[in-house]
Amino acid sequence: MAHTIVIFGASGDLTSRKLIPALYRLFQKQRLPVDTQIVGVSRSEYSHDQWRDELAETTAQFVGDHFEKSAWQAFREQVYYHAGDIQQAADFRSLGEFLESIEPEGAVDRVYYLSTKPQLYEKAIEQLGEAGLSDDSRGERRVIVEKPFGYDLASAEALNAATHRVFREDQVYRIDHYLGKETVQNLFVLRFANSIFEPLWNRNYIDHVQITVAEEMPVGRRAGYYDTSGVLRDMFQNHLLQLMMITAMEPPARFDANLVRDEKVKVLHSVRPMIGGDFASDSVRGQYEGYLQEEGVPAGSQTATFAALKLHVDNWRWQGVPFYLRSGKAMSCRTTQIVIQFREAPHLLLGTKTRVPTANQLVIQVQPAEGIQLHFQSKVPDTELKTKLSSLDFRFQSEGGGGAMPDSYQRLLLDAMNGDAGLFARADEVELAWGIIDPLLAAWNSPAAPPLETYPQGDWGPQWCTQWMHQQGRQWFDVCPVLKG
Ligand code: BG6
Repeated sequence: MAHTIVIFGASGDLTSRKLIPALYRLFQKQRLPVDTQIVGVSRSEYSHDQWRDELAETTAQFVGDHFEKSAWQAFREQVYYHAGDIQQAADFRSLGEFLESIEPEGAVDRVYYLSTKPQLYEKAIEQLGEAGLSDDSRGERRVIVEKPFGYDLASAEALNAATHRVFREDQVYRIDHYLGKETVQNLFVLRFANSIFEPLWNRNYIDHVQITVAEEMPVGRRAGYYDTSGVLRDMFQNHLLQLMMITAMEPPARFDANLVRDEKVKVLHSVRPMIGGDFASDSVRGQYEGYLQEEGVPAGSQTATFAALKLHVDNWRWQGVPFYLRSGKAMSCRTTQIVIQFREAPHLLLGTKTRVPTANQLVIQVQPAEGIQLHFQSKVPDTELKTKLSSLDFRFQSEGGGGAMPDSYQRLLLDAMNGDAGLFARADEVELAWGIIDPLLAAWNSPAAPPLETYPQGDWGPQWCTQWMHQQGRQWFDVCPVLKG
């Protein structure tokens, strides 16, 4: 079956930085279905060759050593450009004619990728419908929607409604690129293809879970966008809640897109809503020093660049086990990690004089240097019975032959082309996620807000966040990647 991928927002950063490099790598690895055409659409006027030449440079830059001139020469023949304005119905009709002119006779599956400004998503979908481009009588018609999916619950509901006026839910692929990360997928395997973890994966053995997405970079040139978004919208509504869902979900009956998403959605249903004083006691918000001087940030902006939340999952498995989620810009280092903190051994026979923490930890390092580390106590050799913390390390990269991990977009693009929505968010999932974030956003804009703490760049967030954890008898796992590449 022939395929066409139409990218709206062709002149944008995501297209050159992620989408075309991912498609090129799939082509190079011979994973891209033969007879795949790629069509970029945006307002600028380019000839096919001008766009291809520009992409040659950016792709070479972003795939680095993987760039091969001969493979690119073959790939570029499948890449086309069509100028068009999302506001103009006539441009969608001419796009339809153009697609037919390059597609082979017979059925062709199409994926429309919305990588434009989010404000244009609704219009683009409506125009696709009006131009007859969603009609799936001659092949599948799917739409991939980049994040953010909505700005809050009301806008996400409106976008879902507008989408469903044109596409059925099974044709809609809402991207969260964290789901395309190898380690995130490996979390499914760790939990559901091994029998040793499941008996421990609950309130009887786990004290709490920490999910940290720390970024070293400040917001830099994205400050204009970022200031209207802030860390809750930018990272929590999507990536952090996705990591939490996969950590907390029940095993699905099969690895089927809807069965997997049913289980993830149940986690969101179980998150205890914050009310009253919870917003101040269960959330920390911070802003790095110097944020107000970033270009495009309005004076006195109260936008949080850091947040930590304590969420409770009210179900049988997790009752009493808090999930701590935190993320921030300009932090100590770039690391994404899920720490499963087990309970202390119930009775200490050893080392009773100096009380040292003995609780086991399973650290799932999502990035960089993807891997898993299990912390446990062992005996210090040649001592009577002194113990020390030891670890078992698993490095993903060495399992895969030492090569670089594929970028998330490779897997996600291929899955969408093949009609597998398992790693994409469903309509109810994004709405429920907004339903958790919206009240926090409102509370943070009200007198119930916790104070906006500041933190120095290159730190683990505000000092208060560390104390907040100590007050609960717990400690953040403030470790820059425990596993090196
Ligand atoms: C994006 C956010 O969704 O994820 C960015 O908008 C953030 O602000 C990025 O930097 C992080 O992605 P990754 O894959 O680099 O962890």
